Amino acid sequence: MTSEGDALAAVMRRVRAVRDYTDADVPDEALDEILSVARWTGSAQNRQPWRFVVVRSRETLEALAGLAPTARHIGRAPVAIAIVMPGERAVLDAFDEGRVTERILVAATALSLASGMGWVPQEARAEASRLLGLPEGHLLRTVVAIGHASHAAAAPRSRPGTARLPLDELVHRERWRGP
Ligand SMILES: Cc1cc2nc3c(=O)[nH]c(=O)nc-3n(C[C@H](O)[C@H](O)[C@H](O)COP(=O)(O)O)c2cc1C
Repeated sequence: MTSEGDALAAVMRRVRAVRDYTDADVPDEALDEILSVARWTGSAQNRQPWRFVVVRSRETLEALAGLAPTARHIGRAPVAIAIVMPGERAVLDAFDEGRVTERILVAATALSLASGMGWVPQEARAEASRLLGLPEGHLLRTVVAIGHASHAAAAPRSRPGTARLPLDELVHRERWRGP
């Protein structure tokens, strides 16, 4: 690989969910860089269906966190990006939303920021949409918190290399092997 490729691969390997942050802010310049990387994400038919709501207000972050039981960390982050989808084509929306979310996580990591996506459960989406003033019919399912990892959150949660299945369990060559 080129040195640029090595650097990118190293960033990709560092992307982990971080759920606790210091009080340090994320400057607008860093956020704009992340959003401009997200802008270049490919989408089905180049629809670019996503819109981003940047949330910095502590009150709104905490309210969002209150609606998302598995994503309380949003309430502790200095900033979050809510990913808004049109909500018209379920499968394509989900695919495109996943792609753009991952780009945001990678871009944040490349800027040495910590990030963690959060899932807004189905039953809370209408309320979360109201909170952000979304037009009727749009889908708000993913919110990405961005900040600086707290000391505790920066510590490894598992032994190096063990948080993922080994490659030989994931990869089949030429033909599916085993049952
Ligand atoms: C569809 C989807 C929903 C997720 N929802 C949440 C969530 O609600 N809260 C959270 O903290 N992490 C959430 N995550 C992040 C995963 O929990 C995390 O990526 C996974 O546990 C692996 O951990 P790592 O990214 O630190 O390696 C979600 C990831 C995906 C793909």
